[in-house]
Amino acid sequence: MAQYTLGNYILDTGQPRAEVLAAILKDDSINEELFYAANKVKTEQYGNLVFVRGIIEFSNYCRCLCAYCGINARMKDAVRYRMAPDELVEAAVDTAKVYRTVILQSGEDCYYTAEMLAGIVRRIKEKAQCAVTLSIGERSLEEYRIMKQAGADRFLLKHETANAALYQSLHGVPLEGRLDAQRRIKGLGFELGGGFMVGLPGQTDEILAQDLLTLVREGVDMAGIGPFIAHPDTPLRGSADGNAHKTLKVLALARLLLPKCHLPSTTALNVKGGMKNALLCGANVIMQKATPYEYRKLYDIYPGRDAKDIPLREQYEELKEKLAELNLTAE
Ligand code: 5AD
Repeated sequence: MAQYTLGNYILDTGQPRAEVLAAILKDDSINEELFYAANKVKTEQYGNLVFVRGIIEFSNYCRCLCAYCGINARMKDAVRYRMAPDELVEAAVDTAKVYRTVILQSGEDCYYTAEMLAGIVRRIKEKAQCAVTLSIGERSLEEYRIMKQAGADRFLLKHETANAALYQSLHGVPLEGRLDAQRRIKGLGFELGGGFMVGLPGQTDEILAQDLLTLVREGVDMAGIGPFIAHPDTPLRGSADGNAHKTLKVLALARLLLPKCHLPSTTALNVKGGMKNALLCGANVIMQKATPYEYRKLYDIYPGRDAKDIPLREQYEELKEKLAELNLTAE
């Protein structure tokens, strides 16, 4: 536990106070100090290493109604795809030749039963030496258990916003359901990845402080923190996008509160040009797209996501060069 003095504020990471976090988020005069402290903590924990993961978005079918998301169940014009299990295993094994962790992400698509997902994970693990992270949404304890027993190592499920009223208005279901799912995942021994969006319509600095405290309370091992980006086909069209600078402040605070937490420079933040800054403000992870090219454009959760058709290995080499310019090394 540490105490940080940032301008006039004292942040006690043993007993972080929501009022202090919100005040720091409002006050831009302390940003340099905040970013410096976050980078120092990150460097103490991880040195110059950046963990690079490959993410395969294997289905954009989704039963959910998240108001911000371009693949939600109501998006009638979305062109839907699903990768067949064999195709997914093959793509994952190829990805594992370049990256040590493969993330399998999809909409909440119950076409894939727990047994199917378990089979996919098992086959990947037999053929490749890699960690497998699942990011497939809410399932029952029994279903999560089947996936865990098949060898899945980590699970990403963000809380998205810690404000109960805002969560309910965006998702049409209560926040408790999401938190319960996170607790089932953590209880089974998965490494848990949480996270939330910054700049959602109606969100305040006080809510962001609650978001940060939620990460601490739920004991996340990873947290994806990215700016909200308005999708033109969703009910949130026309809303202002989340601010990249505010996102960096939230990220930096997450690093101070959770020194060992894996914090990616999220794709949404990269879309806003923030990757380099994120890596200097506390982030220690990058997720590289490994979705087969023909599906990338269809995984349209928010606009601006790149769909460059370059081989994984080349993409990795390009990234390594970018990292070297920042004195960072890909792991
Ligand atoms: N803007 C930013 N992030 C979004 N996500 C979904 N839709 C948006 C959006 N419009 C994020 C959510 C989700 C992850 C897969 O993508 O945080 O957990």
